Amino acid sequence: MKYALIGFGTIRHTHVRAIHEICHGEIVAVCDTRLDRKMLESVPEARPYWDYRQLLQQEKADAVVVLTPHMLHPEISAAALQAGCHVFCEKPVAIHKLQAEPLAAAIAQSDRVFAVNYMNRFRPDVQAVKTMLDENQLGRIQTVHFVNNNWLRSRAYYRSSDWRGTWAREGGGVLTNQSPHDLDRIIYLFGLPMEVAAQAGTSEFHNDLLVEDQVDALLSFPNGMRLYFSTATHLHPGVDRMEIWGDRGYLKMENGVVTLAQLEEPLTAWNERNKEMFGAPQPTWSERKIAPLSFDDLHAAGHVNFARAVAGQEPVMTSFAQALQSVELANAMVLAGYTKKWVTLPLDAQAYLHFFQEMIRREQRSEANGAKH
Ligand SMILES: NC(=O)c1ccc[n+]([C@@H]2O[C@H](COP(=O)([O-])OP(=O)(O)OC[C@H]3O[C@@H](n4cnc5c(N)ncnc54)[C@H](O)[C@@H]3O)[C@@H](O)[C@H]2O)c1
Repeated sequence: MKYALIGFGTIRHTHVRAIHEICHGEIVAVCDTRLDRKMLESVPEARPYWDYRQLLQQEKADAVVVLTPHMLHPEISAAALQAGCHVFCEKPVAIHKLQAEPLAAAIAQSDRVFAVNYMNRFRPDVQAVKTMLDENQLGRIQTVHFVNNNWLRSRAYYRSSDWRGTWAREGGGVLTNQSPHDLDRIIYLFGLPMEVAAQAGTSEFHNDLLVEDQVDALLSFPNGMRLYFSTATHLHPGVDRMEIWGDRGYLKMENGVVTLAQLEEPLTAWNERNKEMFGAPQPTWSERKIAPLSFDDLHAAGHVNFARAVAGQEPVMTSFAQALQSVELANAMVLAGYTKKWVTLPLDAQAYLHFFQEMIRREQRSEANGAKH
């Protein structure tokens, strides 16, 4: 397959490796507004562009991979689909729900494949838990605790590009950049909640930022399930731990180990017949170590899935509809976190837009007063 890459910054190496070494694809063109000779060393065969519209007009690529800052993902993806290309877009698919509407229209009018790089769905431990949930091994799920605050980002990180950690140029903080992977995991395993409450804000550690770097949320699902979620970019060492309690037992996934405590009889059935005041059924404990995939190999898995989807061999792992759900969930958490009110889904996208524009105005006032975000 012939690929064109639009946006050729930090994450380019991972994508170039996946395309060249795993998919054996040809990179015929790359575009970046800052493209220079050095950046082209890994793709000597590619024709350089500084304007993506020109690339789309002049090249006959089968697929476009979108690797720009998030703000541009929907615009460039829609243009690439309209130019007749299949599109593999980095996460998030948009920074807010309304921003994705023109892309939704372009997808509806196109017969090309569109996929979003939520490569953590390919994590072997995530796959194992997904299978267990699909097989109802834990029974009806009641409560989930999900902490992923393993996202330490330093001041040097936020200052490495002018868009990072800003409302106007990035579109938000941890929920727009790092935690979309977590929100996607929630959606992949449990679907969308119906209501969200949250606390969101900026820690002292990142006191030069105005975007959120810490979020704690409570998600309420239509089936009565509750999910407590916590994320941050200012804590270290962080953990990535998900615990799930169902009617048939308990599961923990952490560091590539899935710990399972299974109940022979559903807790509700046991409750009906139990006569002991402090009785509790004995679970059977087991532990399964699951070898992880590296960051590069996870991206490669995303590319392989995309190439197979283009060949009509399998569906895309993360469709536009599911990628948009994680945007909606991020927006809902931010809105709930800053307004201190429960937010109902489907999200009132206009309400989010008003909030978002107000945050941009605040940031602009702060920047006008000399603050550097
Ligand atoms: N899936 C993952 O785990 C993962 C990891 C890292 C980054 N990403 C995503 O990849 C995207 C890029 O991240 P990055 O860290 O490489 O950022 P980056 O700032 O290092 O690179 C972005 C590049 O896009 C270029 N660019 C900006 N505007 C452009 C335009 N109009 N046309 C062409 N190029 C343009 C910039 O010059 C820059 O080189 C982000 O959306 C990020 O969320 C995903």
